[in-house]
Amino acid sequence: MILEAREVKYTYSDGTAALKEVELNISKGQFTVLLGPNGSGKTTLFKVITGLIKPFRGEVRVEGRPFEEYTKEEIYRKVGFVFQDPNDQLFAPTVGEDVAFGPVNLGLSRSEVELRVKDSLDKVGIPNLANKPIHYLSYGQKKRAAIAGVLAMKPDLMILDEPTAGLDPAGVREIMRLLVKLNREEGITILMATHDVDLVPLYANGIFVLYEGKVVLNGTPQEVFSEKEIVRGAGLRLPRVAHLAEILVKKDSIRMDRLPLTIGEARRMVVSALKKDETRYEK
Ligand SMILES: Nc1ncnc2c1ncn2[C@@H]1O[C@H](COP(=O)(O)OP(=O)(O)OP(=O)(O)O)[C@@H](O)[C@H]1O
Ligand SMILES: [Mg+2]
Repeated sequence: MILEAREVKYTYSDGTAALKEVELNISKGQFTVLLGPNGSGKTTLFKVITGLIKPFRGEVRVEGRPFEEYTKEEIYRKVGFVFQDPNDQLFAPTVGEDVAFGPVNLGLSRSEVELRVKDSLDKVGIPNLANKPIHYLSYGQKKRAAIAGVLAMKPDLMILDEPTAGLDPAGVREIMRLLVKLNREEGITILMATHDVDLVPLYANGIFVLYEGKVVLNGTPQEVFSEKEIVRGAGLRLPRVAHLAEILVKKDSIRMDRLPLTIGEARRMVVSALKKDETRYEK
């Protein structure tokens, strides 16, 4: 396990119990989504996992070792955290300086720092913005710059808090493709928070559903979305195509042996159901 959270509890000073005994297990190489509605505790959990706040109870382990046994530098090399709001993360005058900040602090050589900055900006699709002042960037560009800053540290595990929120459709696709590429080609373990249920089945191997500070479901997308009642009870909904499939089964007697979660799956299942139907008429 690259990351484990055991019985993690966190209560804010005003008495809000944001996390109530959260369990999380993430194996190396996984692409995991933390799915939960607004206020369910996603950001709080990520802050606990990355050591920004200390759990009141419970324990976080990275590669089997308790979090607090690591030095800051060791943790920065292992775990990268992209904040929900890029304005909380970016602080240097220009994009290039911001991305360089982490690698410089690791004590890397100048040429290595330059290489990592260039490589990271290329990967997130903003190679031309290295000298741009941060405060001139659009929101989507800031999101990319923040991801570049974490990429430049080459972490084993990347934790991203709503990386696609506020991006346009092309931006969402590009960022998700980038994350998949980092996961598959560079072996970076990905844990991202979102409440976008349509996005999840396309990319995730595993989902943890967080609701009112508790993990109420965990499994593959197929397993999680088959628990329709729990998903809906947790302030979420099924992916649109699964909802359509549900209606086709109920109202139009189209037979499907399982719930399709992507357009591709739905298409195959509908076409196959219709073909069976045709042969029935031919007989
Ligand atoms: N600094 C704080 N002080 C008091 N309560 C807080 C604080 N930060 C968050 N909370 C509360 O903790 C709960 C969980 O908030 P959190 O930001 O972790 O949720 P979230 O799942 O990330 O939501 P969103 O999808 O809106 O980002 C909420 O009820 C919120 O009001
Ligand atoms: Mg949040």
